Amino acid sequence: MGNETVYLNGQYLPLANAKISVMDRGFLFGDGVYEVIPAYFGKLFRLDDHLERLDNSLKSIRLQNPHSHEQWRNLLTPLLKKDLDQSVYLQITRGVAPKRDHAFPQHVTPTVFAMVSGINPHSDPDNGVKALSIEDSRWKLCHTKAITLLANVLLKQAAVDNGCTEAILFKNGYLTEGATSNVFAVIDGVLMTPPKSPAILPGITRDVILEIARKNNIPCSEQAIPMDELRKASEIWITSSTREIIPVVDLDDEKIGDGKPGALWKSLYKLFQEYKLSLR
Ligand code: PDD
Repeated sequence: MGNETVYLNGQYLPLANAKISVMDRGFLFGDGVYEVIPAYFGKLFRLDDHLERLDNSLKSIRLQNPHSHEQWRNLLTPLLKKDLDQSVYLQITRGVAPKRDHAFPQHVTPTVFAMVSGINPHSDPDNGVKALSIEDSRWKLCHTKAITLLANVLLKQAAVDNGCTEAILFKNGYLTEGATSNVFAVIDGVLMTPPKSPAILPGITRDVILEIARKNNIPCSEQAIPMDELRKASEIWITSSTREIIPVVDLDDEKIGDGKPGALWKSLYKLFQEYKLSLR
């Protein structure tokens, strides 16, 4: 464990010294929510959007946000190194209860933790990644960014065990999202992604891509995508805060398009980098 500084319950301290009780509800029940926020050139990216999603996640688990948006900004900023690209992980659990009881404890202070890691976005214009399609085994609150990620862990591991980078999930024959990402497809020249619903996490990267596409008159649509349509797509991308936009060039050992990152991915990738630079 490194010596990097993390934040825990009002204190900045080395990671190795950050300790919580085994009675924490996050540890015992996975009773908490989280956010992952990229920071480019040492500046938090779309912070308000991430904090708004955090508000929604907290509301959905009936936990009050312990901090205002301004307090969050002030709390997270000291963790960032100037001019570097990094990502902030923050987690709030329902706190430490006197006994293990599924029902909410009374008068308990939430546990607040934050740490910073590096980010490693895909930037290889000539190669993409492989993905595995799997039935989405998760629950009905996938729009809540809950720390309870066992299903996602198992789905992602199934992908890794099959030599793939991501699991692409489907429910009732329709695409939902990736185990750790949102999914886009280019079908008949239109950039498509499933609409927001409790079946997917409303990704911030997803929003940014749709925004950029619309601004640049790239035809796009938020619509249900049957898996057999997805298999015929000329491009598939997975998107997330820590990896930006990754081209999928192989789904279940079948080539997507010509098996290389597509032309629209190349344009969107470039536009995304330009957008990041414009915020510098
Ligand atoms: N995960 N869907 C799921 C299930 C995710 O876990 C993520 C991101 C996304 C993309 O959301 P965003 O663009 O806001 O990062 C979609 C983060 C990075 C994680 O769990 O580490």
